[in-house]
Amino acid sequence: DWNAQHIVDELVEEVRAQVGGGRVLLAISGGVDSSTLGLLLARAIGDRLTAVFIDHGLLRLGEREQVEAALKPLGVNLITVDARKEFLGHLEGVSDPEQKRKIIGREFIRAFEREAREHGPFDFLAQGTLYPDVIESAGGLSADKSGAANIKSHHNVGGLPDDLQFRLVEPFRTLFKDEVREIAKLLGLPDQIRMRHPFPGPGLAIRCLGAITEEKLDILKRVDDIFISGLREFGLYDGCSQALAILTPIQSVGVMGDGRTYSYTAALRAVTTDDFMTAEWARLPYDFLATMSNRIVNQVHEVNRVVYDITGKPPATIEWE
Ligand code: XMP
Repeated sequence: DWNAQHIVDELVEEVRAQVGGGRVLLAISGGVDSSTLGLLLARAIGDRLTAVFIDHGLLRLGEREQVEAALKPLGVNLITVDARKEFLGHLEGVSDPEQKRKIIGREFIRAFEREAREHGPFDFLAQGTLYPDVIESAGGLSADKSGAANIKSHHNVGGLPDDLQFRLVEPFRTLFKDEVREIAKLLGLPDQIRMRHPFPGPGLAIRCLGAITEEKLDILKRVDDIFISGLREFGLYDGCSQALAILTPIQSVGVMGDGRTYSYTAALRAVTTDDFMTAEWARLPYDFLATMSNRIVNQVHEVNRVVYDITGKPPATIEWE
């Protein structure tokens, strides 16, 4: 693709000119924007990029390995931080959704700062800000002429302390998502990440309803993996804007063999939308839903009931918390 090649060449030159001999820090979320940015920066400045991927334990099954396998072989100097214990510890007993978000945002910044100090000093902070973000936050981050850094994109939280002030590198700030996906293809990002649905910063924490335990998270990860893999397998993934599994706190009676069970209800949700402000529930084929339900109850013994969310937004939101 000539156009993508042209954009990549230009961005590489631009980054080199801005960064000079400086060092750049980047937070990798596992999404397409930050992953593509990692690849671009690795191409532009090699090991003067340090990419940090924080595993907060709220990622999808195998996601961390998938991100590592995608970026490391392509030369991204990637540091994975195992912060699972920390995050789960702070979330223990917390059931309020907004409280969960606050804690995760705060702990993310804390972990990121720690890595910045340990591997620093850095001159720049790179962010995968896109053109629509620039417009949306006019007067906020992007209009901040002082260059003070805000880690905003994935965690809805505020700035860094004074001793960790970087200049921003935002090579994508004139691009739209489609263009980033084109660049990603050229840079060799696997389609699984390149075409991935959006995934919220707080991750599975807001899909594991109520107070989170390691056991519930583990159940949710397995249900989610069956659903998402199933959508891919049946060629339905790209037709949905976002798909997710939810573990409800509801336990109900079921029957298995000769015995009664008393297990969890899992919910599946898939939506189509242009802007995520309003959404329709995806009309997934009944046969597909039947297959998913069978697989889930057969493979995840802690679940004995599967429901499909047939509510639009509004009045429901896409996430359940
Ligand atoms: P709702 O549930 O509000 O979601 O209909 C709309 C879109 O926003 C995502 N979402 C979040 N993303 N941090 C994020 O980074 C959050 O706290 C958060 N909450 C919702 C959601 O996944 C959907 O794409």
